[in-house]
Amino acid sequence: MSANQSLPNIVILTGAGISAESGLKTFRDNDGLWENHSVEEVATPEAFEQNPSLVYRFYNARRAQLQEDDVVPNAAHLALAKLEKAFGHKMMLVTQNVDDLHERGGSESVYHMHGKLLSARCAISQQTFDWRESFDHTTQCPCCKRVTLRPDIVWFGEIPMYMEEIYDALSQADMFIAIGTSGNVYPAAGFVQIAKENGAHTIEANLEPGVSNALFDESFTGPASRIVPQWVDELISKYAL
Ligand code: OAD
Repeated sequence: MSANQSLPNIVILTGAGISAESGLKTFRDNDGLWENHSVEEVATPEAFEQNPSLVYRFYNARRAQLQEDDVVPNAAHLALAKLEKAFGHKMMLVTQNVDDLHERGGSESVYHMHGKLLSARCAISQQTFDWRESFDHTTQCPCCKRVTLRPDIVWFGEIPMYMEEIYDALSQADMFIAIGTSGNVYPAAGFVQIAKENGAHTIEANLEPGVSNALFDESFTGPASRIVPQWVDELISKYAL
C-alpha cells in the first residue's frame, strides 16, 4: 500500500522494553549488572581499550543469546511491521536496540541508532560485516586482514548513528511515541522534547512511567505486547487503512 499524504508523520522510538517479552533482558534490570560489571562499564571505548576480552565476551554472549531458538519477535514487533505496511514512508522506526527482532518481525526500514549485534566493524576502515558468530582480538578482519574488528555498537561517549535523518524526521513529526525505553540515555531521551517543541503529539508506551513521563501528552502503561498492537490497530482504523 502506498502512503496517503494526509496521514500523520509518525516517529517511533523503541528501547529494550519492547524486546523484554521476547526473552532479552532490559539494560536496567538485574541492577544493570553483567558479571558484576555495570553495563556502562562494558560499553565504552575506554573499557574496550583497557579490557578488550571482557567487552568481546559481553557482546559475544549477547549475540549468542539473540540467536537462541526461543528468542523471537513478539506481538509488539509484529504490530509495528503492520503499521509500516499501512503508513509507508510516513512512519520512521528508530530503535536503540541492537537486536534484530524488528527485522524478524517484518519491519523493512529500521534505524538502529546504537548499532547492531549481528554486525562487526573494522575499527580502521569503519566497514561493517554481517556477523553471527563470536569474534575477538584474534579474529581477522575481512577487509584489512588484520585484527581490527570491534562490535558494531555505539558505546557511551560515541555519537549514535543516523542522527541527521532522525532529527529531520522529528522536525516534521505530527506524532512521536517512545516504546519500552526508560528515558535514561541521551540523545534518544531528548527526542520527546524535540518532537514536542515541533508540535508533535507525544506518547509514552511503557511497563511503568519512565523518567520523562511528564513530557508526554499521553501515556499507555502495560506490557508492549498488549499496548502496542492496541495502539496500532486504533491508528489503522482511525485512518481507515
Ligand atoms: P532500559 O533497560 O533503560 O529501559 C527499559 C524500559 O522498558 C524500562 O523503562 C522498563 O520499565 C520497560 N519495560 C520492561 N519490560 C517491558 C515490557 N514488557 N513492555 C514495555 N516496557 C517494558 O533500556 P533502554 O531505555 O532501551 O545503550 O536503554 C537505552 C540504552 O541504554 C540502550 O540502548 C543501551 C543502554 O545502555 C547502549 O548500549 C549504547
